Amino acid sequence: MAITIWQHLGKYKVPELHNVSVHIRDRKKVEDTLECFRKGGPNRVQVISDFDMTLTRFAYNGTRVPTCHNIIDNSRLISEDGKKKLKDLLNTYYPIEIDPALTVEEKLPFMVEWWTKAHNFLVAEKIQKSQITQVVKESNVMLREGFDVFFRQLHKNGIPLFIFSAGIGDILEEVIRQAGVFYSNITVVSNYMDFDGNGLLQGFKGDLIHTYNKHEGALKNSGHFEKLNDQRNVILLGDSLGDLQMADGVENMENILKIGYLNDKVDKLRGQYLKGYDIVLEKDETLNVVNAILQYISAQN
Ligand code: C5P
Ligand code: MG
Repeated sequence: MAITIWQHLGKYKVPELHNVSVHIRDRKKVEDTLECFRKGGPNRVQVISDFDMTLTRFAYNGTRVPTCHNIIDNSRLISEDGKKKLKDLLNTYYPIEIDPALTVEEKLPFMVEWWTKAHNFLVAEKIQKSQITQVVKESNVMLREGFDVFFRQLHKNGIPLFIFSAGIGDILEEVIRQAGVFYSNITVVSNYMDFDGNGLLQGFKGDLIHTYNKHEGALKNSGHFEKLNDQRNVILLGDSLGDLQMADGVENMENILKIGYLNDKVDKLRGQYLKGYDIVLEKDETLNVVNAILQYISAQN
């Protein structure tokens, strides 16, 4: 049987890279990068991850799992009229977000429009800060299978995790907190709600982060990455082509392994994902491949 040496080695290194969900453009490049990561060990690694549909599941039993925004949109905090307006926005703009035929430049104005309109609708609903915890508890949000191993493993090995999300910071923090995995090695950059003195939502803090401006956001956070001078090997986890820019603020990077979840429009987007991501995970609702890679890197030599 014709089996290359790389396939052979790959089988021993991280067997999960041969799962049916795994698609790789250049297996040798991935193997070489893994080798560098392994040599450097866990002290040289940092993880930069998207949140919605990367750390959370895309679907469960055929039903979509809510994003941070959807957790609020579908909750009892929103009036029937507000729910309809937010649903209309989702139905209008999500297809644009994932449209394989549009360039990022073409998508940009629509993304700003979507986030801006949605945030204005949320402000109009008079949301109270004190209701956030309960609303997350009552939602159907689900982290990907294997999340506990993922978060625990990073914490145990002192690997910094930078969560960079165009979702809502207050919501995603609450999701991670309620799952019992909000460890001290985590830094979150996201859109945070701005509450007034009475705890009423009055807007969102800072510059808007949407799917396709993570390059700018990454550069703004270069101060965070400067502190991680030793962690020059980066694992990037995303689900959108916009997530490929999340590590642009890391100046002293030596190696990067980009792992992308391809959740939707799989056949049409496969080519673009394989070009951008080193490892593409198709219809994989677990963190098993990521966990296996982390375990391989962290194992004693
Ligand atoms: O964490 P992440 O950067 O993935 O969060 C952004 C996601 O939230 C987008 O992929 C988008 O589909 C979704 N979104 C949403 N409702 C909005 C705005 C964004 O579900 N109003
Ligand atoms: Mg995402």
